[in-house]
Amino acid sequence: MRRMVDLVQRSKLERAGLGFYPTPFERMPRLEREIGGPRLFVKRDDLTGLALGGNKTRQLDYLLVEAIKKRADVIITTTGLQSNWARQTTAAAAKLGVKTVLVLRTAQFDETPKEFDGNLLLDHIMGADISFIRMKIDEDPRDILESVAERLTAKGHRPHVLHLSHMESPLAAASYAEAMKELMGQTKSTGDLPDWIVVASGCGTTHAGLLAGAKMLNLGTKIIGISVGAFTKKKIDAVIESAFDGASELLGSSHRANPRDIITLEDYVGEGYGKPSRESLEALRLTGRTEGLLLDPVYTSKAMAGLIDLAKKGYFKKDDSVCFLHTGGIPALFPYRDYFPPPNGDHILTESE
Ligand SMILES: Cc1ncc(COP(=O)(O)O)c(C=O)c1O
Repeated sequence: MRRMVDLVQRSKLERAGLGFYPTPFERMPRLEREIGGPRLFVKRDDLTGLALGGNKTRQLDYLLVEAIKKRADVIITTTGLQSNWARQTTAAAAKLGVKTVLVLRTAQFDETPKEFDGNLLLDHIMGADISFIRMKIDEDPRDILESVAERLTAKGHRPHVLHLSHMESPLAAASYAEAMKELMGQTKSTGDLPDWIVVASGCGTTHAGLLAGAKMLNLGTKIIGISVGAFTKKKIDAVIESAFDGASELLGSSHRANPRDIITLEDYVGEGYGKPSRESLEALRLTGRTEGLLLDPVYTSKAMAGLIDLAKKGYFKKDDSVCFLHTGGIPALFPYRDYFPPPNGDHILTESE
């Protein structure tokens, strides 16, 4: 326990204090029964707090310390149209009393939106200044963000830019080494420390932090990242290695990433990033029906499809404890409503009945 506390205290990493921790950790007994084991748990990082939560809240809690220190009055950032990062950044900025400028890439939608829905609607409600660029998920509008910052500086503002690179930074990963410590604390008395954690991998930063935390804390927990197809496995694994090493250094540890510990699976991407697969939609419905737990259409449902498939294939031992890290993303369900058509009229009770 002492080691565990030291891990973060020695590092002198500061947090902005934006999220709610610890997030709940609980068993999923009905889903576990439905798929025939192993012991299944969920760590509810969809409940981290910032405007419907998600994994980015932990990362922003560290990343925004610099913005606070330089007394920024506007945060500029980018991602995709239905971005969980953009929503949580906008909420964080609102909580800190500063403005948000979002330059959103059309990403998987190709077109600019006809209406505001899901995450985009929430960004708008929370007061973000939003503009769109036609760009894919793997293109970086770094120069555009810099020129927005220059314009705002010329008008007397103090902008702080969060580039895409911040999302794969050592500091962002360190927040998940901290989450690993939190999870260890939660499971210490119950003996349910996960043998495995399954997590959705976008660029791999969350995976990197969990792995670094597990190694630094000397835990045997293995991390499985299920790629959602935003990047190639090669790129994800490279991010995991460098974010692991950077986070470890920041936290004062001499551990370095061992490529043999990195498990990134690309088998559950389906047709691509942002495109639900039959299996991911089934996993989403099954988790909802059995546990009352909502997953999102882009990240967590693909990770859960992976977990279920691995469990059915016997990848885990029956008495292994497997933790699903719920990384959030629920607001994106709404713009994906067409994947969940309502039942036909037969099921709807009418007034005359
Ligand atoms: C809901 C959700 N899950 C998982 C991820 C993936 O996180 P990472 O990029 O750290 O792999 C993201 C990132 O955008 C996300 O929004």
